[in-house]
Amino acid sequence: MTGTGSALGVPAERREGRQKVTGGARYAAEHPLPGRVHAWPVPAGVARGRVTAVHTEAALDLPGALAVLTHDNAPRITEPDDPTLAVLQTPGVPHRGWPVALVVARTPEEARAAAEAVRVEYAVEEHDVRLTADHPEAYEPEKANAGFPARREWGDPDGAFASAPVRVDVSYHVPPLHNHPMEPHTSTAHWDGDRLVVYTSSQGGTAVRAVLTALFELPEDRVTVVADHVGGGFGSKGTPRPDVVLAVMAARETGRPVTVALPRRHLPSVVGHRAPTLHRLRLAADTGGRLTALTHEVVTHTSRIKEFVEQAAVPARVMYATPASRTLHRAVRLDVPSPSWMRAPGESPGMYALESAMDELAGALGMDPVDLRVLNEPEREPDSGKPFSSRHLTECLREGARRFGWDRRDPRPRARGEGPLLLGTGVAAATYPVLVGPSRAEARALPDGSFVVRVNATDIGTGARTVLAQVAADALGVPLERVRSEIGDSDLPSAPLAGGSSGTASWGWSVHRACTELADQLGSRTGPLPDEGITAHADTAGLADADSPYARHAFGAHFAEVAVDTVTGEVRVRRMLGVFAAGRILNARTARSQFIGGMTMGLGMALTEGSTMDAAFGDFTEADLASYHVPAHADVPAIEAHWIDEEDAHLNPMGSKGIGEIGNVGSAAAIGNAVHHATGVRFRELPLTPDKVLAGLARPVTSGRGG
Ligand code: MOS
Repeated sequence: MTGTGSALGVPAERREGRQKVTGGARYAAEHPLPGRVHAWPVPAGVARGRVTAVHTEAALDLPGALAVLTHDNAPRITEPDDPTLAVLQTPGVPHRGWPVALVVARTPEEARAAAEAVRVEYAVEEHDVRLTADHPEAYEPEKANAGFPARREWGDPDGAFASAPVRVDVSYHVPPLHNHPMEPHTSTAHWDGDRLVVYTSSQGGTAVRAVLTALFELPEDRVTVVADHVGGGFGSKGTPRPDVVLAVMAARETGRPVTVALPRRHLPSVVGHRAPTLHRLRLAADTGGRLTALTHEVVTHTSRIKEFVEQAAVPARVMYATPASRTLHRAVRLDVPSPSWMRAPGESPGMYALESAMDELAGALGMDPVDLRVLNEPEREPDSGKPFSSRHLTECLREGARRFGWDRRDPRPRARGEGPLLLGTGVAAATYPVLVGPSRAEARALPDGSFVVRVNATDIGTGARTVLAQVAADALGVPLERVRSEIGDSDLPSAPLAGGSSGTASWGWSVHRACTELADQLGSRTGPLPDEGITAHADTAGLADADSPYARHAFGAHFAEVAVDTVTGEVRVRRMLGVFAAGRILNARTARSQFIGGMTMGLGMALTEGSTMDAAFGDFTEADLASYHVPAHADVPAIEAHWIDEEDAHLNPMGSKGIGEIGNVGSAAAIGNAVHHATGVRFRELPLTPDKVLAGLARPVTSGRGG
């Protein structure tokens, strides 16, 4: 029933756009339940130790104060799989900022005041929060995040490196980074008779329900999790966070609906961060520019309570042909907050380092960096040996170069200026895996000729409602306006999270299947539909999660132009241009927003974003949006996202790859490479803030070779 006039690919507007801009869309703290009260966590004031006493009298004497929950009196929960959710169960303090009490009061202001009046005593232990490449406790884990083996090796990378005529041996440093979505992590919990209803800001309500049923030992049909609108997540809301557990505890304890909206200042220590990564790359090539060895070794940190290893060396297993390679991750357990997912975990810092090193290799070879990448295109995925389902990285690089005007570039560094400004351009490649998970969906045809698709998808700002209606309209062969989509409620057919750039593929596959089945039913019947309509169900378990004989990834190329102020050290990006190969683009408007959003996040990573671990205090010093600067409009230049039409029959029925994360991958490297081209100085530690740039400009110019 697909064909001309398909709803797929059209730039349909977001269906909830008007609701959002008029304030009608309800977020997790905005459900005005009768008797609703507010809770405020008390963060641990030490980096390691044990709570020995919690003095709550002064807090409970304050106006509006209703209760203080501590590890002594909080409801007991079943031990969670995710140790970061085991809040108020023991006196242990695994890191500074860990919640040690929760104050409930009538208003948020009263809850905050009472929380500040709680006095906590600790038995303090020595802490270590300092990550170094040679940390004595560094170990090689079995797996990095997402189940990747920590180490992969083929050929003789050390021997090949030692004997190569052209070599680059360089180290890069990416600091801790924080997701900082506009809407902080928030949950409102209430007991409606014997049913628990939770409004939460999450990327996946089905998983939140599963966790709550386990922790509070409730049957699934008594728990409803609503995530109707979500103000961003970027991975920090990929799994339930302490706010939802604390809200349910407080609602149970007080018998009132309770909202826990984590204060912005609490986010850095309790909802995860991108762990810092220390990279060492050794690239060797023959004089013609073909790689003969590639090693990428990463050291990162994790917390005492949870192992999360940023898989930053993994993209080097996908990108370039080389007869010898080693990629490996080591981690150090420190007394730090638990790291977690942040947009393109692994690829984002990994490709910053790899694509910067490739630029350094191009410099050492005297070769154009686009040509170097094209020359080293692999026939098959280097690590697995599998054929690519589609790749088209060369096309992205060539098309990007054409649109950007790369052929007019003078390759010499520090060759262009405007008064005190140095100008430069840079390129980097992008990759992100194609992920997809099993999902259920329901499709209904109603007698008035309209259709409803239902799936517990989550819209974290991407336009999920809209694109799922497009998938449905396409499969049904009906106009888009006739299809409504219902998402964001765990009573709907269960579905995986909006994460891993997999949401549209996962939910869309089941929606497509339910609609195809419904179309068949409609085609074989005559006469009017019953009042309640007719319904088809789909479940893609066993389909969407089947192993593929193909290596499936999206690819892309970023180009950036920067101006570096030699007086102030400020780097301004003048333009950014990305070209992506991501399968079939299902909504041209919202897809462009996703690519541009990812590129903007890369701009922040390159220039302004970074969290500093205070070694004495044991926590991140940047705890607000003034000190952790996420790009604002004034930072974002002329920015363009394009894509090439990619047909790939080995993905899903829509032919799409994920687009949420690829825009972020490599964009920081393109900017860093442009800064090198502008200044002749190679900066290897992000972000490129004015202090670092001025210090670098004061140093003698270094060659591209050596570390
Ligand atoms: Mo994203 S870090 O996969 O939510």
